[in-house]
Amino acid sequence: MYIMQLQGDIPIQLKEFVSAASILVRSPGRINLIGEHTDYNDGFVLPAAIDKAAYISLTPRSDNEIHLHSLDLKDMYFTTVDTIAPSAGPSWTNYLLGVVAQFVKAGVTVNGFDAALTADIPMGAGLSSSAAVECAMAMALNVFTKAGFDKITLVKMAQKAEHEYAGVQCGIMDQFASMMGKDKHVIRLDCRSLEYHYEPFDIDGYKIVLLDTNVKHSLASSEYNVRRKQCEAGVAMIQKYHNEVSSLRGATMQMLDKYVLSQDTIIYNRCKYVVEENSRLLQACNDLEKGDLISFGKKMFETHYSLSRLYEVSCPELDFLVEHVKADPAVLGARMMGGGFGGCTINIVKEDAVDQLIAETGEKYGSAMNKELQAYTANIKEGTTIIS
Ligand code: GLA
Repeated sequence: MYIMQLQGDIPIQLKEFVSAASILVRSPGRINLIGEHTDYNDGFVLPAAIDKAAYISLTPRSDNEIHLHSLDLKDMYFTTVDTIAPSAGPSWTNYLLGVVAQFVKAGVTVNGFDAALTADIPMGAGLSSSAAVECAMAMALNVFTKAGFDKITLVKMAQKAEHEYAGVQCGIMDQFASMMGKDKHVIRLDCRSLEYHYEPFDIDGYKIVLLDTNVKHSLASSEYNVRRKQCEAGVAMIQKYHNEVSSLRGATMQMLDKYVLSQDTIIYNRCKYVVEENSRLLQACNDLEKGDLISFGKKMFETHYSLSRLYEVSCPELDFLVEHVKADPAVLGARMMGGGFGGCTINIVKEDAVDQLIAETGEKYGSAMNKELQAYTANIKEGTTIIS
C-alpha cells in the first residue's frame, strides 16, 4: 500500500506548495470498533483516528480566487469566494468547497487562497477520507480567517459540508473521530448529547487489520440515505403512541414489537438492528473496561451478522471476508465497517498471525471473488493537527 513520505511532518510532494505564509493541517481517517449506523439515530459509536491522513496546505492570495489542487489526482479547480456553489465538476472539490461555504454562511469573511491536498487514506475503503479532507479544510480555514470556532463547531461544519455539497446525509461520527481522535484511545461518543469519553484501547499482542474488498458500490450513498429515512419512518410509527420518542435512541424492542412489526417488516428489521446495536456497544464498552477482548470480539461478529441480515448494508465480498476469518482462533472479532456495500472489514488479529492471515485470506478471496484483496494495519493516532 502507498505510504506517505514525510520530510519533518510535511509530505514531500506538498513541499513546493508550502511557503512561510501557508497553514498546514493534517487530519486522519478513522476506524470504528462497534456502533455502526447508530450515529444518525442519536446512538453511540466507538471510533478512533488512525495513522493514515489527509494533508492540506492553505496559502493566502491577494485576490478573491480559490485555487484547489489535488496532488494525488493531478487535478485542479478554480473558482471565486463570491461564486461558491456545489461543483458539477470533480467530486473531490465539493469536500473542500462545502466547508468554505459553511464559513461564508456563518458570516465569516473568507479571502482568496490556494489549497493543495494530498492523502494516504485509501479512497472508497470506508475509512472516511472525505471527512478527513473536510476536517483538514475546516481547521485550516479557522486559522486562516481567525474565526475562532471551537473544534465541535468545526466538526458540525464539516458534517454539513458532506450533507450540502456531497449529498450524503451522514451522521457525525466520521468528522468527530477525525477532528477529536486521541493517540491510543477510542472515543465513546453519545451522538445525542455529543458527550464523549476517551477509552484506552490496549490490545497488546493484537493488531487492527483492515481487509479491503476493493468493492466501491455506487449504491452506497443512495442506500445510506434510504436507511436513514427507514429509521425515521420507524420513529414516526412509535411517536403516534409515544410522543416523547424523537429518535431510535429512545425506542425499545417492546415498542418496535408493538407498533412497527405489524406495519412493515423491513422497517422493523432496520430499527431492531439499531436498538440492539446501541445496547451491544454499551456491553462492548464493559468488555473493554474488564479487558475482555474475547467477548468484545464476539460482539463484532454479531454486529456484522445483523448489519448483513437486518440492516442489509453488506455485500457478498464483505460477508465472505468475515465468514472466512470466523473460525480462525487468531482473529478475535471481525465485521464490515462504515456505511457498507463495499469497503473494509475491521479485524482484531493476534500480532504474530497477521502476515499469514493476510496472505491466506488474499488467496482465498482472489479465487472466490475474482478480486484483489488489499490489507492495511491501522494504528490509533491523534486527530486533526495544525502542523504549521
Ligand atoms: C458513514 C457515515 C457515518 C456513519 C457510518 C455508519 O461512514 O459517514 O456518519 O453513519 O457510515 O456507521
